[in-house]
Amino acid sequence: MSNENYLAPGGKEYTLTAGQLAGLNKKSKILDVACGHGAASLNLVRKFGCQAVAVDIEESFIRAARETARQEKLDRQIKFIAGDFNKQKFAANSFDMLIAEGGALTYIGRDSGLKRAHKLLKKNGYIEISDLILRGKRLSREVKAIFLGGAQNLDLETEESYRTLLKLNGFEIVFCSYVTQQYWEKYYENIKQNLKNRKGFFSDKNVRESLNKEIKFFYKRRDLEQIGYLFMVARKR
Ligand SMILES: C[S@@+](CC[C@H](N)C(=O)[O-])C[C@H]1O[C@@H](n2cnc3c(N)ncnc32)[C@H](O)[C@@H]1O
Repeated sequence: MSNENYLAPGGKEYTLTAGQLAGLNKKSKILDVACGHGAASLNLVRKFGCQAVAVDIEESFIRAARETARQEKLDRQIKFIAGDFNKQKFAANSFDMLIAEGGALTYIGRDSGLKRAHKLLKKNGYIEISDLILRGKRLSREVKAIFLGGAQNLDLETEESYRTLLKLNGFEIVFCSYVTQQYWEKYYENIKQNLKNRKGFFSDKNVRESLNKEIKFFYKRRDLEQIGYLFMVARKR
């Protein structure tokens, strides 16, 4: 599988931009929350030569990520952990940058996740976030079913409420924008490839069914103005 095996809209250019804004270098230590196949950590370690710890609850993703790191001889620079992020212990003030791409904060809890991020980051440390947000006034039943699946009671943030949440948790926004259409398309092309390969997570019948529905819906381009993918880089105050 390619090095671009991201599991959310966005991808390498967004990750590296965040790394540049955070001023990463060989001495930097990053923490990748809900890392999926480890694409963000791998890209940052390749580009900046930093050290990374990357956690995901899905074992098959971590196995694939470890294998990529091993093949590229990056396994001494990236420690991959299979498990629930909320159950892992890390020392306070020990990371220069926290990566929370692909809705990571929504999975671990946005408010509690930001509080923990603030504790784990060093002074002036950075957080990169990408997450699904509400753009319109409300979500139609169909959009809810497709993009929130089993978590239909979950409330999405808006750009405004996400900004407020960051501020309340002691972060100053350095950059914020929407992920553009082409990076959504890139994401679905990658998901199609994973579905074709049928490995691990992507061999599950329910996963395949819901992702196929999402792809079909996306390419019909109906109601997509209700949602957006927000990319943010913020600094610990
Ligand atoms: C949409 S994917 C994004 C993966 C990756 N950050 C990316 O952008 O390619 C969300 C990931 O969150 C992981 N996840 C969900 N809950 C988690 C938790 N409590 N701890 C660690 N990982 C979790 C899933 O296994 C999945 O890989």
